[in-house]
Amino acid sequence: MTVRPSETVVVLDFGSQYSQLIARRVRELEVYCELVPFTAPAPEVQRLNPVGFILSGGPASVYAPDAPQLPDYVLASGKPVLGICYGMQLLTHSLGGTVNPGTEREYGPASLELLAPQTPIFADLPPAVERLPVWMSHGDRVTRLPEGFQSLARSDNSPYAAIGNPEKGLYGLQFHPEVTHTPQGKEILRAFLYRVCGCKGGWTPGNFIDQSIADIQATVGDGRVVCGLSGGVDSSVTAALLYRAIGNRLTCIFVNNGLLRKGEPEQVVQTFRQELHAPLVAVDATEEFLSALSGVTDPEAKRKIIGEKFIRVFEAEARKLGKVEFLAQGTLYPDVIESASRDQQQKSAAAKIKTHHNVGGLPDDMQFKLIEPLRYLFKDEVRAVGEALGLPHRMVWRHPFPGPGLAVRVLGEVTWERLETLRAADAILIDELWASGWYEKTSQAFAVLLPVQSVGVMGDYRTYADVIAIRAVTTEDFMTADWARLPADLLARISNRIVNEVPGVNRVVYDISSKPPATIEWE
Ligand code: XMP
Repeated sequence: MTVRPSETVVVLDFGSQYSQLIARRVRELEVYCELVPFTAPAPEVQRLNPVGFILSGGPASVYAPDAPQLPDYVLASGKPVLGICYGMQLLTHSLGGTVNPGTEREYGPASLELLAPQTPIFADLPPAVERLPVWMSHGDRVTRLPEGFQSLARSDNSPYAAIGNPEKGLYGLQFHPEVTHTPQGKEILRAFLYRVCGCKGGWTPGNFIDQSIADIQATVGDGRVVCGLSGGVDSSVTAALLYRAIGNRLTCIFVNNGLLRKGEPEQVVQTFRQELHAPLVAVDATEEFLSALSGVTDPEAKRKIIGEKFIRVFEAEARKLGKVEFLAQGTLYPDVIESASRDQQQKSAAAKIKTHHNVGGLPDDMQFKLIEPLRYLFKDEVRAVGEALGLPHRMVWRHPFPGPGLAVRVLGEVTWERLETLRAADAILIDELWASGWYEKTSQAFAVLLPVQSVGVMGDYRTYADVIAIRAVTTEDFMTADWARLPADLLARISNRIVNEVPGVNRVVYDISSKPPATIEWE
């Protein structure tokens, strides 16, 4: 399935940690773009008919023996090119300029002097800007420009902090316009897209919905589709789009594994029936999951058991539906990019930190064709689509919730009693976050039940009871995260309520670790 507008910018990925961010910024500027590995076959890229290229940064040095090279089709296309960091060095190198290995890295904030403020790429900066604060992160540097290029800006350390051949629409930036530490970076990207590439813009969730529905209809024809529903934003938006496209030929399956949050199974079913109206099969498999988890404490073993059980239950329900050709999944663009780059780099399994599970791995004799209508969208775009489809605000803005659910938040053995303790504490936390306006200021927040007990005093009695940890983080991509600076009085209220209202808990702690070195979940 493809949902692609006619006007596309291609971001070639040379391995920068910021590559996804470039793609997001371009889309925020209402221009559709795709992030493509630099090794992608030429016809695959040319099929997108790009109106321009952005070359990402990357960790390599252009002279290294196996350094990524600029694919020939980029310059041969005659389209505008913007090289960022390694991308600028590569552009320089490919056009006959010189790049020298830097003896020191230039990393962090820098101030640029604009030498050609009238050049199109700077034309959206506020008038009379002479110095531009930017974020640098590079080792090598350009020392001789290719023919036809001029220096557009310099810093104390780099005479060529921005370069260009405006006649040909070729530009290079040594700094990173995509990061928020370059406050006017978006204006520079905007000028590249609209002034240099001549984009018309208009990429919005509204266009996406119409195109996506037409695409689903063309793919599915008279067929039937099954969709696993978790209650999270991705599967809900997937289901809503499918229902709009094919109505009752969609059946959703919701599996209650007993590891969901307080009131969640009822809420998912109720919201779904009110808002979506598609046929829904709700299965309560709590007993099955909990008995499979009995006595298990190892986090990866828990994940494996839950993943396999889920597939078994889902499969049994799907078979009851008779002949269904398609399985819809809420796969997002970051998953697609990650698995593409994993394949490209043949990353070893040893690099895996946690096994994440999705619907997948169904038995071979259940050969569904996959439908993934969100596979070109980032999370914030999925939320915008959800809002545009009229899904309830709280459903659209829900924090992500892991497939193995509370099993990885009840540290140690998972029992019904311990799940109930955690559910009660977690519900108080979430309630207080919504009430204080902090839910939407955090990216993910939850309670964790620790596998230790601690001494306390309640009234005149000594207690020896459970400890709840509170985790709240802010993040753009969940790959790195910072702990949320929740106000002290909010933390005090949460702690008070938990020890007073949740039987068996006498202590609450707040997790102040960032990722890395910690992960967001505790298991
Ligand atoms: P970590 O703990 O790895 O989590 O920093 C990053 C994000 O992934 C979620 N997560 C999971 N999601 N299955 C999922 O579907 C899993 O097994 C799983 N483990 C972690 C986590 O909640 C966070 O949003």
